[in-house]
Amino acid sequence: MRKRLVAGNWKMHGTLQTAQQLLMAIAHANTEAILAVFPPYVYLPLCQSTLSGTPVHFGAQDASEFTEGAYTGDVSATMLKDLGCHYVIIGHSERRQYHQDTNEIVRRKCEQALSAHVVPIICVGETLQERETHRTLPVIQEQVAIVQQLKDNCASFGEIVIAYEPVWAIGTGKSATPEDAQTVHAFIRNALSTVDAQLGQSTQILYGGSVKPDNAAALFAMPDIDGALVGGASLNADHFLVIGRSCNN
Ligand code: PGA
Repeated sequence: MRKRLVAGNWKMHGTLQTAQQLLMAIAHANTEAILAVFPPYVYLPLCQSTLSGTPVHFGAQDASEFTEGAYTGDVSATMLKDLGCHYVIIGHSERRQYHQDTNEIVRRKCEQALSAHVVPIICVGETLQERETHRTLPVIQEQVAIVQQLKDNCASFGEIVIAYEPVWAIGTGKSATPEDAQTVHAFIRNALSTVDAQLGQSTQILYGGSVKPDNAAALFAMPDIDGALVGGASLNADHFLVIGRSCNN
């Protein structure tokens, strides 16, 4: 049985004070699902001090494709590990869109994460235009294809999470229907199984894109949806916890 995971992507929001309040409010939450938060880099030390000894994990929103060196502004996966990050989000559509993270760069970032023993949450998803031109599955297929290379290059390739986030659903209030999301999740699981049967069984596949307290339970009822990557609603502790509890099974 795959453990459920509810991950909160704070994006570039908050202050030291609001970050502290949010962390305190969720630190001792009692949920069957694993909870994890992804604040901006600068608040990661706060996560380390506030969340240590609690069941809540934390991670970063990105990591460098390089191990170390003259890469101003970048943060390596090893540095994230040093701070206690369990996860790192890789290939979020906002990184793909605003920072030109290609599938190849996403693969390199995932390899850095895996070799630093930080679990990459690999984001995939189609744009509205791709959906309307019936290219959802080919686009997803191409994005998920990096997993074969991860298997070829990394001993710990099994330590990944996938997040299916249709780009048109992110921050728009328009969520995919549970049935539409399930179709893509099953497709992803099948693609993972082709790489490695065990990987297909064990990998958590999260849904992301306007997950809210009122649509979470219906999404989590789908057999291949193992949790959520939550943006906007993760900035409100009550909403985040309601979503986390909707995931109890
Ligand atoms: P949203 O963001 O929940 O605000 O749509 C999801 C995400 O970008 O991970």
